[in-house]
Amino acid sequence: MRIALLPGDGIGPEVAAAAERVLQELPLDLELEKHPFGGAAIDETGDPLPAATLAAVESADAVLMGAVGDPRFDGAEVRPEQGLLRLRSELGVYANLRPAHGEGVDLLVVRELVGGLYFGARGVRDDGTVFDTMEYRPDEVERIARRGFELARSRRGHVMSVDKANVLDTSRLWRRVVERVAGDYPDIELRHMLVDNCGMQLVLAPGQFDVILTENTFGDILSDVAAGLTGGLGLAASASLGDGRPGIFEPVHGSAPDIAGRGIANPAAMLRSAALMLAHGVDRPAEAARLEAAVDAAVASTPTPDLGGTATTTEFADAVVRELASR
Ligand code: NAI
Ligand code: MG
Repeated sequence: MRIALLPGDGIGPEVAAAAERVLQELPLDLELEKHPFGGAAIDETGDPLPAATLAAVESADAVLMGAVGDPRFDGAEVRPEQGLLRLRSELGVYANLRPAHGEGVDLLVVRELVGGLYFGARGVRDDGTVFDTMEYRPDEVERIARRGFELARSRRGHVMSVDKANVLDTSRLWRRVVERVAGDYPDIELRHMLVDNCGMQLVLAPGQFDVILTENTFGDILSDVAAGLTGGLGLAASASLGDGRPGIFEPVHGSAPDIAGRGIANPAAMLRSAALMLAHGVDRPAEAARLEAAVDAAVASTPTPDLGGTATTTEFADAVVRELASR
């Protein structure tokens, strides 16, 4: 199994090194190949996603990414984040998975990633009005819905589809298509919830959720609420999946320039992203569960400063390696 490792910028290389170290401890035939990406790649080649990196990514089984972003490029014409957007579109990743688990919470947000408000027609009218539009095609809703139901099968078998069907036509389409797809999954329990209520329910009673299936903008917001419930950016991981191409696995956080270079970044989000990669990228669910459990134990025993502890990135990775040895 060949993994393209894109360390990126800021704390990216620090958490990527932790992932490299920990993945080597697992009894898997993983080949990790590092490639320049983001600001680091602009420095080397002038391009945040150099052709050689893209070629390597396309022939890999999965992509494990640190983070991109560097204040040196703020306002520049070529910026690190452009590489990330291009990579996502090259790999056609339309399903964004954001798990959140902690005290009384064990849910997975399945967010549509390439449609809706962020990609609809936009513009300015003569009178100064600015507009963005939300659009969805039925097939775009169907493929993300299928992904949500499939994922629910490997969890607790419950899908909460979240929309704003009392107001938006795109949401009424969403609901119709989700209902139709549900017919193919009689073993899964489907319910619907309006997005504003979902925001409140996540804060008041997060234990009721298993899979939250939702469109792009709602998912962007709700997945951050869910991350906030369960320890914040140092812990939140993500997977972005398409069909028949390598998925992208990356922490939710950015390059954290305020703490970069100090060796104190929390690598848990990156290690959980590596676990998602084992489960959804290279089909090794048992090793994924083992890694996840080891990370959970290290979060409790060896917290980094963002969690109120004093552990360094390396000390946290060492703790994960020790935990792996005991399970
Ligand atoms: P950020 O996520 O990098 O940092 C926000 C705050 O959380 C900072 O105080 C940071 O120190 C802290 N933090 C984040 N990850 C942490 C970790 N693993 N351990 C401990 N503390 C952590 O977001 P910010 O500051 O808004 O953006 C910084 C740069 O990252 C920008 O250039 C932005 O464009 C980029 N970015 C990149 C993303 C990506 O690669 N997917 C996602 C978000 C931002
Ligand atoms: Mg967001």
